Amino acid sequence: MLVLFIGDIVGNPGRRAVKEALPALKRKYNPQIIIANAENSAGGKGITKGVAHELFELGVHGLTMGNHTWDHKEVFEFIDDEPRMVRPANFPPGTPGKGAAVIKAGDKELGILNLQGRTFLPPLDCPFRKADEQLALLRKKTKCILVDLHAEATSEKIAMGWHIDGRASALVGTHTHVQTNDDVILPNGTAYITDVGMVGPREGVLGMDKESVLNKFKTQLPVRFTVAEGQWMLHAVAIDMDEETGKARSITKIRQYENDFVMD
Ligand SMILES: [Fe+2]
Ligand SMILES: [Fe+2]
Repeated sequence: MLVLFIGDIVGNPGRRAVKEALPALKRKYNPQIIIANAENSAGGKGITKGVAHELFELGVHGLTMGNHTWDHKEVFEFIDDEPRMVRPANFPPGTPGKGAAVIKAGDKELGILNLQGRTFLPPLDCPFRKADEQLALLRKKTKCILVDLHAEATSEKIAMGWHIDGRASALVGTHTHVQTNDDVILPNGTAYITDVGMVGPREGVLGMDKESVLNKFKTQLPVRFTVAEGQWMLHAVAIDMDEETGKARSITKIRQYENDFVMD
């Protein structure tokens, strides 16, 4: 089974990238299930019901989130009723939404688990113990499982890779918005990459307008960031999973620029 995972979609340019690039990506990789990180999909921070449905209509089957999950208040109105969307599982018990789900598309199914790191991010519950708990539950339901660890520190993501190797088909990192060149199949069959990279404006700083970010760095005064405009870039990974064993066969990095296709 081929799973396409799309990195953090940032605002309108990110959604336009998905709309414009997905048909070609589908032709090239023929994914049966498409998952995307949507924590920045509405205006650069958070998600709305309308944006979630826009992504579903573009062909995305499941959404993962991160530290920006709650930035649009509207999320509280639909997160409990949306079976195709997960937020980090290691928020405290009682938090709206859920951290894991089984996504179905045609006759294929994929377990997804969202976790958030604690290094340079708010101190949520332990993602390692939460991974143990949630993977044990998911593995009773389905063989193929993708984990999105939304984290800042490369060390925390690499450590999680070793921690869950052989218990998930893939561990993909999100949040830093820059694709890392360390894609690998770990010894026990888990596909791994420290960060998938983002989908959003090419000429900004992690998706935000470069002038406002520079202004913040130079003045250290409060600055309101807005999503950058202009051409998009798209980062994703294509992961081939063996449905018999749940192990990954391959992971392929994808990087595509508007009007400058890098499709190797
Ligand atoms: Fe993000
Ligand atoms: Fe994030």
